[in-house]
Amino acid sequence: MKKNPNTVSFTLNGERKTFITEPNEKLLALLRREGYKGTKFGCGQGTCGACTVLMDGRAIYSCLLFAMQAEGRDVRTIESVGTHEKPSEFQQELIDGAAVQCGFCIPGMIMSAEALMKAEDVYPDDVVREYMDGNLCRCTGYEKIWGALRRVLDRREEGREQSSESRSDPKA
Ligand code: FES
Ligand code: FES
Repeated sequence: MKKNPNTVSFTLNGERKTFITEPNEKLLALLRREGYKGTKFGCGQGTCGACTVLMDGRAIYSCLLFAMQAEGRDVRTIESVGTHEKPSEFQQELIDGAAVQCGFCIPGMIMSAEALMKAEDVYPDDVVREYMDGNLCRCTGYEKIWGALRRVLDRREEGREQSSESRSDPKA
């Protein structure tokens, strides 16, 4: 059967979905009208990072991409990360560290951090900055957000070190 030219199919948060769209509709607009409102519209111009989602594991600005460009891809939004009952480690650190002010930037920050943790095994500050510098916080809460992320990354690094030590010393 011939595909309707006004539909786009992709995997969204682990489920294969098909949506009706228009050639000029942005991925961000499609996600929000389909109820994925955790992804925010900030600048609409690729400068603030509020609209960050993962596409095939990489953080992208969904305000810049046409929905049609998601065809066949794997897209993840903030709705796939943690729940109210069981937040992700970073979400819990943001809460515990009182790092969230208005919260508008936070979903994008979390998605960029997800991309970082998926792609990298070690997290020196310069690498973390590279992943996070496309996400702006208008409340300027950077220090607490950074602190929360740093605690998560430090724990991951420590965990890896311990498991590689116990592998190299079977008696440990
Ligand atoms: S809304 Fe996409 S970068 Fe600002
Ligand atoms: S917490 Fe308000 S924009 Fe970051």
